[in-house]
Amino acid sequence: MEQTISWLFKKAKINENEAALWKPELYNLALNISENLEQFATKPVGKLIAEYNLEIIERICPSVVNYIKSEQIYDHLYYICFIINQGTGTPIHNDGFGPIYGLNVPILNCENTSTVYYKAKFLPRRTVEGSSESFPAVGYGFWADEESAVEVGRLDATVPHWLDVTAPHKAEVFHDFLRINCSIRFHDTIIDYLIKKYGKD
Ligand SMILES: [Fe+2]
Repeated sequence: MEQTISWLFKKAKINENEAALWKPELYNLALNISENLEQFATKPVGKLIAEYNLEIIERICPSVVNYIKSEQIYDHLYYICFIINQGTGTPIHNDGFGPIYGLNVPILNCENTSTVYYKAKFLPRRTVEGSSESFPAVGYGFWADEESAVEVGRLDATVPHWLDVTAPHKAEVFHDFLRINCSIRFHDTIIDYLIKKYGKD
């Protein structure tokens, strides 16, 4: 039988000191994509792992790569994206361009921000201009009907979490600073690992 997970998000079991090392590394990775990150506010920016030079990631983000390798999930990596906001969050959406689970890591000014989950109906699909040349962005995937959406959970974006990004969610931001959250995305083949480490429920 196919394994399933019922949770939407779980606090990641990562040592705080270790996670602190990730922030500057991932920030430098974002700057390696663009030095002008402000231009991506309210849009996702990232690259498929296949498009990154893995040597660059290993050089810029050694602690992150060491962790992913030590957890034996490196083969499941799909892409790394950065959710960038300034003064506003995102609409309710799901990330409709593929896989399933994201390891979200706060990078910059994630205090006073949340990721909020909803029970919501999705609107007919529409696409927007991609936010980076090499990222197959289709905006935020699918948009939900905000009027009828009901909040079902929220997580503190200052702490690394695993998230199911196929469920309706949004970023909520209550300040005007540039805010960067990194999401390390994995193929759904990671599900056995997640169940073993975080449980099904
Ligand atoms: Fe998202």
